[in-house]
Amino acid sequence: MKLIKCEIISNEKIGDELFKMTLFSPYIVKNAIPGQFVNIKCSENNNFDPLLRRPFSIHDVEPDFKVFSILYLLKGKGTYYLSELNSGDMVNFTGPLGNGIKTEEDENNDFLLIGGGIGVAPLYFLAKILSAQNKNVFFAAGFKYNNFLLIEKMFQRLKINYEIYSENGMHGTKGLITDFIMEKADDFKKYSIYCCGPVEMYRTLQNIFSLKDIKAKALFEEIMACGIGVCKGCVMKFKNNNGYVYKTVCKDGPLFDLMEAVFD
Ligand code: FES
Repeated sequence: MKLIKCEIISNEKIGDELFKMTLFSPYIVKNAIPGQFVNIKCSENNNFDPLLRRPFSIHDVEPDFKVFSILYLLKGKGTYYLSELNSGDMVNFTGPLGNGIKTEEDENNDFLLIGGGIGVAPLYFLAKILSAQNKNVFFAAGFKYNNFLLIEKMFQRLKINYEIYSENGMHGTKGLITDFIMEKADDFKKYSIYCCGPVEMYRTLQNIFSLKDIKAKALFEEIMACGIGVCKGCVMKFKNNNGYVYKTVCKDGPLFDLMEAVFD
């Protein structure tokens, strides 16, 4: 992990309230693995409002151009600041952070990735790595409406199988992506499963997978401050043999066993 200052190559609006920022950083391109994130300072140099850096998953890495990208939704002061930046502007961040997905340790050939909303961002990076390894990837993605239209073209470019659901039917099939998983869970029993999305999606997936006796890993998100396991501001509760244990999302995670997570 390093403290990095780098140049913005592009920062475009790609959907309703959805932006993609591409940054030049040979260090991140060389060292990042799927699931890791960068913690970006979302204010001018001598300004500390907002005080805390904001974590963003690494969404894509393009080694030929030494650039990586993040996706972000306009949510508050920090992301509004980012959305106003232009190519040529500089940003400060730390990264790559977190315990990501070591694809070389998973010998399975079949992978199911389940993304809800902005949760598709880190899973796209994973899909790209897996498809370059000639693995069989199925991407199940769910959105509220049609602000992630561009993701479909990206799946097509990777030549992976995918299914898209949206809550209002404006993109793909109308419904929740968990409806699709419930219906097809048996087909994916032998797959390695990774998911990333909102807590409601995780709760439903836990119910489906415990009924079907399926294992899955998840990338979790929490409000973060230090991003390196020091402040304990991002702890989550997990089941273990002795009852419960608290782990930091930023350092112990963000990758965890979905079935061990406790959402109180
Ligand atoms: Fe400080 Fe995770 S953000 S411990």
